[in-house]
Amino acid sequence: MRQHGSWQGDGIYFGADYNPEQWPEQVWADDVALMRRAGVNLVSVGIFSWALLEPSPGRYEFDWLDRALDVLHAGGIHVDLATATASPPPWLAHRHPETLPSTADGTVLWPGGRQGYCPSSPIFRQRSLALVEAVADRYAEHPAVVMWHISNELGCHNVHCYCDVSADAFREWLRERYGDLDRLNDAWGTTFWSQRYHDWAEINPPRAALTFANPTQQLDFLRFSSDAQRAQLRAEREVLKRRVRQPVTTNFMIGMGIKHMDYHSWASDVDLVANDHYLTVTDPNAHLGLAFAADHTRGVAGGDPWLLMEHSTSAVNWQPRNVAKTPGQLRRNSLTHVARGADGVLFFQWRASRAGAEKFHSALVPHAGPDTKVFDEVCRLGADLRALAEVRGSRVDAEVAILFDWEAWWGVELDSHPSVDVTYADRMRALYDALWRAGVTADVVHPSTDLSGYRLVLVPTLYLVRDADAEALSRYVAGGGTALVTYFSGIVDEHDHIRLGGYPGAFRELLGVRTEEFFPLLAGDRVVLDDGSTADVWTEWLHPAGAEVVASYEDGPLPGVPALTRHRVGDGTAWYLATRLDEAATDALVGRLLTEAGVRPPVAAPTGVEVVRRRADDRSWLFVVNHTDAEVTLDATGTDLLTGQPCGGTLRVPAGEVAVVREEQAVTEAVPAVEPPPAAAA
Ligand code: GAL
Ligand code: ZN
Repeated sequence: MRQHGSWQGDGIYFGADYNPEQWPEQVWADDVALMRRAGVNLVSVGIFSWALLEPSPGRYEFDWLDRALDVLHAGGIHVDLATATASPPPWLAHRHPETLPSTADGTVLWPGGRQGYCPSSPIFRQRSLALVEAVADRYAEHPAVVMWHISNELGCHNVHCYCDVSADAFREWLRERYGDLDRLNDAWGTTFWSQRYHDWAEINPPRAALTFANPTQQLDFLRFSSDAQRAQLRAEREVLKRRVRQPVTTNFMIGMGIKHMDYHSWASDVDLVANDHYLTVTDPNAHLGLAFAADHTRGVAGGDPWLLMEHSTSAVNWQPRNVAKTPGQLRRNSLTHVARGADGVLFFQWRASRAGAEKFHSALVPHAGPDTKVFDEVCRLGADLRALAEVRGSRVDAEVAILFDWEAWWGVELDSHPSVDVTYADRMRALYDALWRAGVTADVVHPSTDLSGYRLVLVPTLYLVRDADAEALSRYVAGGGTALVTYFSGIVDEHDHIRLGGYPGAFRELLGVRTEEFFPLLAGDRVVLDDGSTADVWTEWLHPAGAEVVASYEDGPLPGVPALTRHRVGDGTAWYLATRLDEAATDALVGRLLTEAGVRPPVAAPTGVEVVRRRADDRSWLFVVNHTDAEVTLDATGTDLLTGQPCGGTLRVPAGEVAVVREEQAVTEAVPAVEPPPAAAA
């Protein structure tokens, strides 16, 4: 379990990955002076330094790291110390080529990049844990160290390894899961296509094969691969926990870009949740993607404050065109993370590298030095974060939940499905973005979360769902909640077996509908609904079975068939959306659900202005991020902590700026338990 409140120091953490080993030692003193000028108080050190710390097996050289930590400590900078296992040194693969990972077609990936190891390799495990022991023994008591950083972005590059070592580990994992072969054969549906296994040794990872690999084999391999990464996390954590008292974390990659680590299951293995987030610059709604990732990170953290371990001050180096951030964008990005529950804002990396693959990645100190727009903005952000110290430890207000499950993501995007246009991100972001535009904050949470405190629950594309989670959603609605389920949800159980009797399987009764056949649309085809809205991608032959019809198709393959339904269940209402509504219609539907469920934004704000409330026992703060190019005014009374100015009723926020108002009348009440929705829903 996470140890709540175990962070050290005061206020909001601010800093970066710091790689002193890339620079001559004379630079270190300048670094610390600049860190102090910027207000940096925490740096992650040593992440990629294994090859320096252990130049040959078992021979450790810590002197340079001793000196670096001492310089930082003398400057008052705290350290999040890496276990340094993120990337093995060249000698490992040279001596033990069997530690190298393989792709599905058997290609062995050579060292020379990073993270070049098979996650199931016992040799890697043994060598990496020996390093963790040595680092922990040496620095457990170092006064600069306030946190431990296990590996780095576990699974970022090497999550799926298909080598023989991994194949053995996969078989072991399957034995644990199923006990005997009959159960595995049932779960994998191996009577199909003559796939029945009679010996464990016959089973392999889903290596490159003719036509489609068995879907449950694929799904189990994804589960196994996430667990294999998690096993490294847990093994390192165990070594640390016997030696150190500081909180232990690792950097997750929660967002819609990285799919293969089930962080919901990992959350209990860290003392605080930390996340890395990089903007998708080609996305005109990149700031909504950022908000989504932050709300999801908070969901994974169970609502507790979390740490933004990495983001970028400006451009990255790994996209085809690496667009720089415009003035003010860095500040809006960072403070949006804080608004949504981050109690620390760190970056990759402190000083832009001179050499190596990431030399064109932005940093706090650019190649051009501190006399730059970037360093000015860094200093301004440092001052902002100091002014926000009192926010630390407070929680974010949300009355709406969006259900998210990595296994549903993996399941829905397996091959040979009705339509390739049904992706997990699609309706997830469509519903989230509609809430964002309505000014409403959501918790993005796992389906097993206690939903009783939410007024509204949105369930996008929950293709794979466990019985218990489906039942919990029904109980939530019966108890007075409002829920919306979108198409291609409730279709299969955890083995990817269809729930028979009509779609949407697990949710048929709750939604009061029964679908007999899917009618996906061809690319570019659209249908019109009788309320004037349009839709694409998906339609289905749905029969109401207790639900009221809200809208039906006017044309397309199923004229007259319902597309949107509403079902009264106990004291609540369950909506089903059987098609992919356009953006305006999605906004209208979400607006209607918010009204019926009695959810309002913290304060009314113009479009493009993000408002989030954090609250503690006796205080509350309104975060206002103005993404528009005009000054906006909102109703607020209190003090803007960023300017120090009072606002008596009206808050002005200039174009592109941010305000954080400590509210004079604190809003400290917990979200009320769900009551029956008002008459409108009857
Ligand atoms: C992260 C990684 C960092 C750095 C950064 C660049 O994935 O953890 O080490 O590579 O990306 O954006
Ligand atoms: Zn392997």
